[in-house]
Amino acid sequence: MDRRTIVVTRRLPGVPWDDLAKRFPAGDPPKDGTMSREEFLARARGASGILCTLADRVDAELMDAAGPSLVVVSNFAVGVNNVDVDGATRRGIRVCNTPDVLTDATADLGFALLLSAARKVSDADRFVRAGGWTGWDPWGFLGVPVAGKTLGIVGMGKIGAAVARRSRGFSMKVLYHNRRRIPPSEEAGLGASYRDLDALLAESDFVVLCVPLTPETRGLISTERLGKMKRTAVLVNIARGEIVDDEAVATALAEGRLFGAGFDVFEKEPLVHPKLLSAPSAVLLPHLGSATVEAREGMGRLATENLLAVLDGREPPNSVN
Ligand code: 8YV
Repeated sequence: MDRRTIVVTRRLPGVPWDDLAKRFPAGDPPKDGTMSREEFLARARGASGILCTLADRVDAELMDAAGPSLVVVSNFAVGVNNVDVDGATRRGIRVCNTPDVLTDATADLGFALLLSAARKVSDADRFVRAGGWTGWDPWGFLGVPVAGKTLGIVGMGKIGAAVARRSRGFSMKVLYHNRRRIPPSEEAGLGASYRDLDALLAESDFVVLCVPLTPETRGLISTERLGKMKRTAVLVNIARGEIVDDEAVATALAEGRLFGAGFDVFEKEPLVHPKLLSAPSAVLLPHLGSATVEAREGMGRLATENLLAVLDGREPPNSVN
């Protein structure tokens, strides 16, 4: 048995707890649900590796509690905004994530939200279940068309590119905005044209947010930016809630300045802004981007590989620092 301890913050698909516990002292088996902050701090003390989720905050306090033994934080997510990456780097701690395995699942969900918001799928489903359907209505639940329309992708990373590829089947014109322009050959491959953010918002019928949460993207979609969008447009957020001012979106929907919204993530997740909850044209999901068995098992496998690679002194498959 290795003498170094590890912390796995909850029971996760694809994470072979029994195998890990045979090799490392790791305490009680992880449970379902988020580990309390107190337990996380207590268990981190003297640990060498942490395998955690986006609900676990790995900040200076946590890393200081762990102490100098900590060499790896392996996040069960592609986003690492729950981890103080700079602080980890200063302490010589590797921070790892799980890209690729969830790209298609997340892009699929982005498209599902786009289509659902465009065609009022959730609202109409609620209407049927509530017994409101008394007969066919030529005026009922009129949506906006998707085929041939303009799709604006904010954040042309792997997930953004996968969203662009899906739009081909709908003959959409694709615009994108990114920190850096992607090479012309990639633009051509995706059939995507670069725009600055304001131009993208003004021209797009559908705006899909695929950027990571960073100081630059926090609050990116503000009242002012929403004002640049078409009244008939749909905003989809499959990135992080803090990128969008949720109240501003709810107000724009209520005032008819935006047609629809498809959100998988929220500013104060799992709390959803009450004004969004009462907006019939908003499709709201509980952070399901990577929620397929295949993607989640892939994330667990990768998070485990990342953890073990660093503990074994090897280069991890995916590290962000
Ligand atoms: C979530 C995600 O981690 O990977 C990310 O960054 O946002 C998702 O994969 C996952 O849905 C857990 O809730």
